[in-house]
Amino acid sequence: MSNIPLKITNVGKVFDKKKRVISDINFNVNKGEVFGLIGLNGVGKTTLIKVILDLLQATEGGVEIFGVNSKKFESRKKLAYLPEKFVPSQLLKGNEFLNLSLGYYDKKLDIKKAEAGADKLGLDPKVLTSRVGKYSKGMSQKLGLLGTFLTEAPLLILDEPMSGLDPRARVQLKDYLLEYRGKDRTIFFSSHILSDIDEICDRVGVIHGGGLKFIGTPKEMKQQFGDEILERAFLNCIDGKKTVAKKPVVAKKAVVKKKAPAKKTATKKAAPKKAAPKKAKKS
Ligand SMILES: Nc1ncnc2c1ncn2[C@@H]1O[C@H](COP(=O)(O)OP(=O)(O)OP(=O)(O)O)[C@@H](O)[C@H]1O
Ligand SMILES: [Mg+2]
Repeated sequence: MSNIPLKITNVGKVFDKKKRVISDINFNVNKGEVFGLIGLNGVGKTTLIKVILDLLQATEGGVEIFGVNSKKFESRKKLAYLPEKFVPSQLLKGNEFLNLSLGYYDKKLDIKKAEAGADKLGLDPKVLTSRVGKYSKGMSQKLGLLGTFLTEAPLLILDEPMSGLDPRARVQLKDYLLEYRGKDRTIFFSSHILSDIDEICDRVGVIHGGGLKFIGTPKEMKQQFGDEILERAFLNCIDGKKTVAKKPVVAKKAVVKKKAPAKKTATKKAAPKKAAPKKAKKS
């Protein structure tokens, strides 16, 4: 069995025999990586993820998961997936949902582990005994995330995992993702929150115009597309503005752009302002 968690080769997808969404997508996701997939709405991120999971059939090309063709059922044994529109069964209690999910991996729910995991994600462990129908959107998302983490699968595939989470929960999720990742654990996820991508991803892939426009580290992307802020570098990338950064990008985190310095002439020898002539008083 290959060590490469994901090997995507020449993947293309056409819907309804005429609507081409992606073509010729080629890249690998390596062991131990946190890999972020980015692109505008509708470019085909979810389509690619569904092809990887064999939920959609590729029109061309194929995918291997740890060296096994993704069309084979056993290829999916080593991965856990959270869909973009995650809605758990409303009638189940939180812990029943988790137990059901873990059953697919021949695992039984360890309630102590589940409670600790819930706590890490900012989900009150007490709600695990409540019906999912009573959960808010963010609580349901946290439950879905918890379900994937508890599988301890070597590969997590998450479609917009940050969606619906408040800022604290997003920070908690990022910490959990980094804690989860290890030399034998890989995370592949899509997101529109590029500051998060910049913070936690080892590599990033950009899909635009049906193809893979860029693959590399966030730092490389910022250097290649001339901006210290990943979001702006991303826009330069998809708008075809391939420029090299004027100064080397050293910081990994997004840096707030400094204001342009005031003109030298204004600071150097500022001539004393002439007093405005006083208006003559009307007599
Ligand atoms: N089952 C389908 N039949 C026809 N077209 C589809 C189908 N699923 C997706 N599409 C189309 O494929 C394109 C890509 O959709 P996809 O959901 O992959 O985008 P996305 O990059 O995940 O977008 P978002 O950021 O909004 O989630 C869209 O134009 C969408 O309408
Ligand atoms: Mg999507």
